[in-house]
Amino acid sequence: MKTEYSVGKVLIKPNLILAPMAGVTDSSFRKLIKRRGGVGLIVTEFISVEGLTRNNLRTHRMMYFEEEERPISIQFFGHNEDRMAAAAEIAEAAGADIVDVNCGCPARKVVSSGGGASLLRDLPKMERILRAMRKVIKIPLTLKYRMGWDEKSINAIEVAKLAEACGVEQLVLHGRTRVQGYSGQADWDIVARVKQAVKIPVVGSGDVRTPEQAIQRMKETEVDGVMIGRGAMANPWIFRQTWEMMQGLTPYQPTIEDKRLFLKDYFDVMLQEMPTEKAAIGKVKQLCAQFSHGLPGGAQFRERVFHSQSVSELLGQIDEYFSRQVYEGAA
Ligand SMILES: Cc1cc2nc3c(=O)[nH]c(=O)nc-3n(C[C@H](O)[C@H](O)[C@H](O)COP(=O)(O)O)c2cc1C
Repeated sequence: MKTEYSVGKVLIKPNLILAPMAGVTDSSFRKLIKRRGGVGLIVTEFISVEGLTRNNLRTHRMMYFEEEERPISIQFFGHNEDRMAAAAEIAEAAGADIVDVNCGCPARKVVSSGGGASLLRDLPKMERILRAMRKVIKIPLTLKYRMGWDEKSINAIEVAKLAEACGVEQLVLHGRTRVQGYSGQADWDIVARVKQAVKIPVVGSGDVRTPEQAIQRMKETEVDGVMIGRGAMANPWIFRQTWEMMQGLTPYQPTIEDKRLFLKDYFDVMLQEMPTEKAAIGKVKQLCAQFSHGLPGGAQFRERVFHSQSVSELLGQIDEYFSRQVYEGAA
């Protein structure tokens, strides 16, 4: 089982990657996760090349990252090769370590204009995009994709070989089709088969919720790395725990106080960074929902959080819930 690998000259150590998640993995969230340890690579939320190359300020802000986040990969989605190439140049100039192409987003808005997962149905276009981007940047170009459009058109291996031939230096495969969305279970057999089919590093993504699962996936599939998304929202310590287990150490067990502080830190940052208080509350509610899965009384907590209207009410719910956990845990 590997513990590190390189994408071009970029060392990914440990080989555990925070997944891009639109609306979640902004710079603030990424820093909070990275500071907990064990993260070898970070990917931004997907960024529209249409917005970026038309100088949309909000889109430009999505490229913002800080030194402590390195190594960092900036992910783009789009369908026009000239704009994709121009965006790649902008990312390189902004200091990105890696540029990533999204060929997996299932959202109607994205696929209807020919980007995201719809590139899986138009390989000539995907090839034009990859070649155009490869030509204009020196930093590594990588690709994140799904295993096919639907179950009748699984083409993960074909895409992998095509990408490798275009000079792509890493593949991240989420073992679901576009049509599946997030239903069912991610298929890791296909990840293992892609790993055997190409020489470039292959990373698997999908449904890793515990350190044990991350390690098991690495052993079973011989992938170069594992990417974790929703599992990190529910447990920001999952990378540190996995890395510790990979080294034969006892994994850190976050206390209830650690969890409470994580949510409060997140809330503080959101209040500073989101344009409105309402937007900050929305973000924190989303994280509270993920965070409390599997915790005792989590369903009631989510219900109360959902109905909270103000910052003080939401903070009160967080405090109340976690102090009850401490009390009940000690009882
Ligand atoms: C809320 C959310 C937003 C996502 N946004 C992106 C994205 O911007 N780019 C991308 O390549 N994948 C995106 N994904 C897919 C994840 O990166 C990941 O491949 C998928 O969730 C499976 O991994 P997981 O089970 O560890 O979450 C998103 C997933 C979620 C749940």
